[in-house]
Amino acid sequence: MSNIDTAIPPQDAQADSQESVQNNAPGNEQSKGGNAYKPLLHIDGLEKTFHQAESTLTIFKSLSLSIEKGEMVALVGPSGAGKSTLLQLVGLLDTPTGGSISIDGHNVGNLSDAERTKLRNQFIGFIYQFHHLQPEFSALENVMMPMLIAGTHKSEAAKAASELLGTLGLSARENHRPARLSGGEQQRVAIARALANDPRLLLADEPTGNLDPATSAEVFNLLVDRVRARGIGALIATHNMDLADQMDRVLELKQGRLVVY
Ligand SMILES: Nc1ncnc2c1ncn2[C@@H]1O[C@H](COP(=O)(O)OP(=O)(O)O)[C@@H](O)[C@H]1O
Ligand SMILES: [Mg+2]
Repeated sequence: MSNIDTAIPPQDAQADSQESVQNNAPGNEQSKGGNAYKPLLHIDGLEKTFHQAESTLTIFKSLSLSIEKGEMVALVGPSGAGKSTLLQLVGLLDTPTGGSISIDGHNVGNLSDAERTKLRNQFIGFIYQFHHLQPEFSALENVMMPMLIAGTHKSEAAKAASELLGTLGLSARENHRPARLSGGEQQRVAIARALANDPRLLLADEPTGNLDPATSAEVFNLLVDRVRARGIGALIATHNMDLADQMDRVLELKQGRLVVY
């Protein structure tokens, strides 16, 4: 049986970068330098080109986008338009070939790998279409994981994860492994995990795309409710226009451009 303690990277590995992240990372009030206005997320002239064996594929060349604190933005567009690519870049899971991404006024291109990892853990929540939960861990342990990585004490993480699962109606499912949960329940656990460290930016890549319409609406409503209650900014890719219309703005990604839908 897997042990959640051994699944967490050693704290020492993260400690090296801790000092500089604390000084530079978003969310640090002292580093903001006065009252200068800074959007939560600012993307400027973003370019992403994939280089394959004999060809290059440019997904976007000069993409710009700003999201305010607490603003929820839907990202729509045909399959293959680059929605997942954009979310991966903003989620610091991939690096752009040009342009810049700033979070809370800090250019993430200037951060080291360790700083990016820490920022992703503490500032950004990510929800995938397929839950990506750890199969060998319970729902509770899956939600505890980001907190433990951030250095939260185990008993405190367990309490907070339990409360979070409770707000998503999953108190009776805490000890179930993902395989013993329905699709809707798995996604609700994934939402709880994404919210575990109180992120300021939530990214979701078709979070209900794998669910039947009724479950999709139920899970989406819970997601919006939780995100609004916490004042989190969000960029959510979806094919469902009924769901997209609940956002503050709907942007369409087509032919490498973002346009108001
Ligand atoms: N790692 C990669 N290498 C090469 N091409 C990729 C890679 N990831 C995505 N693509 C291509 O980028 C385009 C956009 O993909 P994606 O971002 O997944 O679109 P969407 O999420 O809007 O359906 C597609 O043509 C896809 O094949
Ligand atoms: Mg996609």
